Amino acid sequence: MSGPVDPPAFGHSGLQWKRDFTTVTALTLSTAAVPGLRADAIVIGVAKGAKGPVVAPGAEAVDHAYDGRLAGVLETLGACGAEGEVTKLPAPSGFKAPLVVAVGLGAEPEEDEAYDAEVLRRAAGVAARTLAGSRKAAFALPVTDAADAGAIGEGALLGAYSFDTYKEQGRNARGGNGKAPLAEVALLGGRPRDKAYKAAVERAVAVCEELNRARDLINTPPNDLNPQAFATIAQAAAKEHGVKVQVLDEKALAKGGYGGILGVGSGSASAPRLVKLSYTSSKADKHLALVGKGITYDSGGISLKPAGHNETMKCDMSGAAAVFAAVIAAARLGLEVNVTGWLALAENMPSGSATRPGDVLRMYSGKTVEVLNTDAEGRLVLADALWAASEEKPDAIVDVATLTGAMMLALGSRTFGVMGNDDAFRTAVYEAAEEVGEAAWPMPLPEHLRKGMDSATADIANMGERMGGGLVAGLFLREFVGEGIPWAHLDIAGPAFNEQGPFGYTPKGGTGSAVRTLVRLAELTAAGDLG
Ligand code: BES
Ligand code: ZN
Ligand code: ZN
Repeated sequence: MSGPVDPPAFGHSGLQWKRDFTTVTALTLSTAAVPGLRADAIVIGVAKGAKGPVVAPGAEAVDHAYDGRLAGVLETLGACGAEGEVTKLPAPSGFKAPLVVAVGLGAEPEEDEAYDAEVLRRAAGVAARTLAGSRKAAFALPVTDAADAGAIGEGALLGAYSFDTYKEQGRNARGGNGKAPLAEVALLGGRPRDKAYKAAVERAVAVCEELNRARDLINTPPNDLNPQAFATIAQAAAKEHGVKVQVLDEKALAKGGYGGILGVGSGSASAPRLVKLSYTSSKADKHLALVGKGITYDSGGISLKPAGHNETMKCDMSGAAAVFAAVIAAARLGLEVNVTGWLALAENMPSGSATRPGDVLRMYSGKTVEVLNTDAEGRLVLADALWAASEEKPDAIVDVATLTGAMMLALGSRTFGVMGNDDAFRTAVYEAAEEVGEAAWPMPLPEHLRKGMDSATADIANMGERMGGGLVAGLFLREFVGEGIPWAHLDIAGPAFNEQGPFGYTPKGGTGSAVRTLVRLAELTAAGDLG
């Protein structure tokens, strides 16, 4: 099913596509003693204790060099240990590193309890972002097990991310906040020779590098990232990591009867693509299919979005970016599971050849859809990809999409909704998200909302009741999932793109939402703990 390999067709930004699409931050475990450590900064944790700030475990050497008065020094500097708080102080004399950065960890845990992994991840992210412009930092945060080391590593790698491809002087120049990302992170407090610690750090590196690549793709302006360019990038990455890749171009899509993807892409000068990434393991006995919405720009089409609603719509391929990242990460980690990723790529534009409200599309499944609103395009491309994924009879399907503004209204900008055709599977997906530190919430698919999509002309319309719009979209997708396959739908419209300031390890712009959940789902499937 593979079409010709097209060269990237870039727009008018002048970008020559030299960016390597990987993070520049290196991560290692170290047992170096803190005073002699050559670095630009030592990162420590400070928690909110009952009687003021408390220095977190990991910072003993620093506290010792301050004659055990570090908590008092921090209090004098105004620190209280709140999450997100950053206090900088000069390192004590005798230290090779000049600077100590104390990051807030929130309330001190009860005795015998460890700091929550997500608290550590966020604190590491804050520290890494604060240290932009520095070359090397040593992280001396509390580590009780390998999972903590992994979480701190993730936070550092994700927090260090910055996107400056389009700043006048290139990625390492003085664009953005004027500083290059932190280049090197040494993780203290772990056991570099311990298998579990090594694996945790390797996992953090693979997942975060791919997640940061997803962020790059999301942040890339839509005149440079059209469906063809995205497909070309996916092909290159797949080749590099031993993942099989097949690309359906517009001719192959027409031949195959992919009416949903073609209908959405028909208004654009850049033709749509369906990319299939297949990672297979010789030790796998389970198969997980991932499907991503990849609208490289959503203008709304003929049902044009008004100004104020289209400026961030380059983010509408975040689902496909997440699926892409998760498949490559699974390959890099050598997970013992087969993972197939489907990227449904199209640009939704108005033109003389665009799909009109009132048109009927014949979908890949054979069902007909009356398009009442061309801005409800995500469900159309996903419908074709879900049906294609279903034909392989995987053990489970998870789709990811910036699907509805309604989900944002329901859950806000940091939480994604989880829907599905199987309550136990939906719960498992929601729990996997929680486990990796992604905010998610289960949502229902109320049967009574289905009739709102009844069409006088076709089998179904692509729009229904306005109320519960996110659930209506989920009900539409359900019609295109093969009988008996557990399926979950993640609507990431809220958390995919951060329009506000950075927080924790989340930057402004593309966030890489759902990548960590998808990787965790692949791991759970490999272990036979899912579906
Ligand atoms: N891509 C949008 C959803 C979206 C909105 C994502 C805001 C991220 C931020 C989607 O294609 C869309 O336009 N959905 C419509 C559906 C409606 C016409 C039924 C919506 O949510 O308004
Ligand atoms: Zn839309
Ligand atoms: Zn959209």
